[in-house]
Amino acid sequence: MRRVFLIFFMIILSLYSQGKQWFLEEKTHLGINEKNHLTIGGVDVVNLAEEFGTPLYVIDGNRIIERYKEFLRAFDSLYPKVEIKYAYKANTSLAVLKILKNQGAGADIVSGGELYVAMTIGLAPEKIIFTGNNKTDEELRMALDAGVIINFDSIHEMERLKKICAEKKKIVRVSFRVNPSVSPETHPHLATGLWKSKFGIHEDSVLEAYKSAKGFEYFKISGIHMHIGSQILDSEPYKEATSKLMDLAGKLKNHLGVELDFIDVGGGVGIRYKKDMKSVPIKNFAEDIVKTIKEKIKEYNLKQPLLYLEPGRWIVGDAGILLTRVSTIKKTPFKKFIGVDAGFNTLVRPVLYDAYHEVVLANRVNEKSEEEVYVAGNLCESGDILAKDRLLPKVEENDLLAFLDAGAYAISMASAYNSRPFPAEVLVLNGKYYLIRERESYKDLLRNQLIPEFLK
Ligand code: LLP
Repeated sequence: MRRVFLIFFMIILSLYSQGKQWFLEEKTHLGINEKNHLTIGGVDVVNLAEEFGTPLYVIDGNRIIERYKEFLRAFDSLYPKVEIKYAYKANTSLAVLKILKNQGAGADIVSGGELYVAMTIGLAPEKIIFTGNNKTDEELRMALDAGVIINFDSIHEMERLKKICAEKKKIVRVSFRVNPSVSPETHPHLATGLWKSKFGIHEDSVLEAYKSAKGFEYFKISGIHMHIGSQILDSEPYKEATSKLMDLAGKLKNHLGVELDFIDVGGGVGIRYKKDMKSVPIKNFAEDIVKTIKEKIKEYNLKQPLLYLEPGRWIVGDAGILLTRVSTIKKTPFKKFIGVDAGFNTLVRPVLYDAYHEVVLANRVNEKSEEEVYVAGNLCESGDILAKDRLLPKVEENDLLAFLDAGAYAISMASAYNSRPFPAEVLVLNGKYYLIRERESYKDLLRNQLIPEFLK
């Protein structure tokens, strides 16, 4: 009797999990309520769309905290000296930055604008590392005044900062970004440590670079940096590149007597956007990276350096969604197009990298999927297709779609193309929600524009 019951239970369970949406398994902040609506952090997204309009970015603060803690724990349980420098470019909304600051996160910044934002939220300068290629003199000055670590992208950049430091008589902590010449498996635009890449200095000029920095009275050499790319799902290239970075740290000690305070292995760990995409636990990356570092510390008898990590997408990526309303449905001899009120101005990743974002019919999540459609953006560009050949339930005009995993590189890459104002953004935290960015108005589109007198 007991066995029969067990078998029956197993059948029910398997039927249930077949019908269950794959993303609910790991994106535990998403759910479905009794109205068959998508929820985020327990909040009904249909209500949010009604209250704030669409397109609308929604981000779950608790999920950000959870992911931050998980990432940190994976590394600091293996290595005692870890600091996370959250990559601001992934999502620079002030409320998100405040949440991460409160958790103790530092910042990886790449522009004067990101430095300004970091200072605005009151982040301590010593927690900030300024990377970025082609920094202007103005940005270097600003960074020097602020007191952040300056991570050089080239020897030329270092020479420019030398002049500024001498002029200001100010000491600064510096490091170099190294191009370790590794090729992770990712979209070609997202690999940044290839031999032919524009970033960093190549291994063969590292000694020369550090030697020159060492001889300059206003520099305090602090570390070495790499960032090999983004949306990487395999820890192998990290092992390879970390090993090269540590060999360079060994060389710096042996040849120049320079001992580094930190090793920065960058960001880039990927997330699962798609059902058939593998998801690699962060602890696998941590194990491989830390193991490599420990071995090399021994080999070169180094002082244990701080380990800096610069995750962006892994922390905020799946915390955010983009809600968009269906405005038109059009059947052509080629496809059925579901026309929505968002476009690549709000989510550029599908167009720029052929990226996949899961699309969910947010007001009828668990309805049976029936037809394969294209989701078309509202911009006047034929490339403005946000999702191709997706199996969705029968979508109707006025339905609400949610693009998942839009917490990273969505709003931070948005534009006002076709004179479409920036969407609003809502934060969900502890079961409550807060407007954190007002929707731009048409008037905002004209802000800062001037018409010369003779044209008026
Ligand atoms: N550190 C540096 C120096 C970086 O340039 C980046 C990202 C990161 C850290 C963080 O990488 P993450 O952990 O977020 O992968 N727009 C692209 C991603 C470009 C990433 C650029 N650099 C996308 O939407 O996939």
